[in-house]
Amino acid sequence: MSDALREKVREAYAKTALSAAGAEPEFARRHYSDDEMGALPQSAAGASRGCGNPMAVADLRKGETVLDLGSGGGIDVLLSARRVGRSGFVYGLDMTEEMLDLARANAAEAGAENVEFLFGYMEDIPLPDESVDVVISNCVINLSADKQAVLREIARVLRPGGRTGIYDVVAENGMSESERLERGSWVGCIAGALTFDEYRLGLEEAGLTNIEITPHHQETAGMHSCTIRAHRS
Ligand SMILES: C[S@@+](CC[C@H](N)C(=O)[O-])C[C@H]1O[C@@H](n2cnc3c(N)ncnc32)[C@H](O)[C@@H]1O
Repeated sequence: MSDALREKVREAYAKTALSAAGAEPEFARRHYSDDEMGALPQSAAGASRGCGNPMAVADLRKGETVLDLGSGGGIDVLLSARRVGRSGFVYGLDMTEEMLDLARANAAEAGAENVEFLFGYMEDIPLPDESVDVVISNCVINLSADKQAVLREIARVLRPGGRTGIYDVVAENGMSESERLERGSWVGCIAGALTFDEYRLGLEEAGLTNIEITPHHQETAGMHSCTIRAHRS
């Protein structure tokens, strides 16, 4: 992956992490219920930069093991931890140390004991093969310069029968890379978005099945926040 691009992304989200305390939870308010917001430390909501709510797609059950790619301030890890209960476990993975520090502090404040935040890259996930039931992610995969590596890694860590519950920005088919760049930055989760066909093909090439990519709301002209469901057989 382009080290320069990765560094730009890391720097931007380090700033988000450092300004989360006292920040208005404007992203979180858009996507999470009052009940969910009420269960979160202020700075988990303040650091939220997702484009949806993976809880709505992941259908988490008690006892499951979940991995959140690009877990940021920990919002979806903490909400998942409530759903999987004490018999389940949730990993958050992030490459930005400032986000990991914030997420760990948020988990301590929330009293969440069934969670662990890992430093690492979603292109090279530091977990064994077939070790998780569900991979969630919220507006992160578009930030990778090697999305095929990310999709391969998702398929590798999922147990047979495992599934994804992902939110990501997706571009309409036929939109060129320069048209995506005209609509927004890479760091802002727009320029790096795949098209619907590219996403589907990437998931298929990674060996995932039962793929459903469903648009929910338009982020900018021709680019949509989507849920991405797929299964490992
Ligand atoms: C748009 S924010 C979303 C954070 C969180 N999912 C949320 O909903 O608030 C993107 C997060 O992904 C992390 N990230 C970006 N690229 C990554 C990579 N290649 N590997 C791991 N984490 C990454 C960033 O550090 C940042 O915390």
